[in-house]
Amino acid sequence: MILTTGGTGYIGSHTVVELQNAGFDVLIADDLSNSKQEVVDRIEQISGKRPFFEKVDLKNKEKTFELFQKYPNIEAVIHFAASKAVGESVENPLKYYENNIGSLVNVLQAMQEYDVASIVFSSSCTVYGQPEILPVTEQTKRKAAESPYGNTKMISEDILKDHSVSDKSFKIIALRYFNPIGAHPSGLIGELPNGIPNNLVPFVTQTAYGLRTTLSVFGNDYDTPDGSCIRDYINVVDLAEAHVVAIKRLLENKNKSNFEYFNIGTGQGVSVLEIVRTFEKVSNTKLNYQIVGRRAGDIEKIWAETSFANTELGWKAKKTLNETLLSAWNWEQKYRASLTE
Ligand code: UD1
Repeated sequence: MILTTGGTGYIGSHTVVELQNAGFDVLIADDLSNSKQEVVDRIEQISGKRPFFEKVDLKNKEKTFELFQKYPNIEAVIHFAASKAVGESVENPLKYYENNIGSLVNVLQAMQEYDVASIVFSSSCTVYGQPEILPVTEQTKRKAAESPYGNTKMISEDILKDHSVSDKSFKIIALRYFNPIGAHPSGLIGELPNGIPNNLVPFVTQTAYGLRTTLSVFGNDYDTPDGSCIRDYINVVDLAEAHVVAIKRLLENKNKSNFEYFNIGTGQGVSVLEIVRTFEKVSNTKLNYQIVGRRAGDIEKIWAETSFANTELGWKAKKTLNETLLSAWNWEQKYRASLTE
């Protein structure tokens, strides 16, 4: 059984589907602070199998230990559970350190106590900051974080590294996600931000749906071909598959060291304006957008060198940007329609 913390969240839910499709039993532990329990029903609808679910706050050490005690057949963990809003982390850094660092430490201690050795961790390309040379490889130096959220990812990687040195029985893979977007092709699960979305693609789909009047494009004076920022947008189902591959690698002892990390992106840089235009094309809609000033803390451009993940993990992003944006649009429409049924 694979324990997925944060398994009802955006990336977690897609990964639970792929894990079940690959034949794994899955236990979801989530405090539902940023997701809904009905996601469990939707996962069951997609994969024909209901994952185990426990509502638990992993900041609570006792409850975390109880979870491992209740499920003695946990063989590996994927630790998604974390808060991820950059702006909120600047307003309330202690919440971020308590939640993101506290829960990781509790999970690692419980694993140690209950002899569970394998863990896949959700890291982020945020650890690279603005790199001088693109694309970024896993050897690119990490930079001081721009936000408390980013810092929790840096510190979490450091904790995992230190732990891997002190406890050689542990096997750890950190996946450095680039920008996850899109939704499951069924349209039953997808990204569901609370309130006004911070991230680009949910803002785009909500604008197209009429929930927001205007998309703001943050800056067109960057040193990029069209002046808008460049990111590496990775389809969430492709990303989910990377977790399945990583878990198998650990369980089959194919890892080369007991702490490994991989860039998980497409290798392609895409600008904000390209996202807007591609979305308009695939959705056959006209997006109301305006160019506004730069957003504080944004980096200009980043995309991944993915050859290490391609060769070493045997994983590669497969979906096109067209189908990914269309999947995000389908999800938005289907989800909003389901609310009025
Ligand atoms: C952000 C975080 C990153 C975090 C990730 C996941 C920052 C600086 N970075 O990534 O650390 O891991 O979310 O939550 O916040 N954009 C617009 N208009 C919008 C929204 C976004 O033009 O309404 C632009 C941004 O300027 C950026 C691109 O779209 O160039 C992508 O933005 P976003 O989806 O928020 O992701 P990141 O900022 O890359």
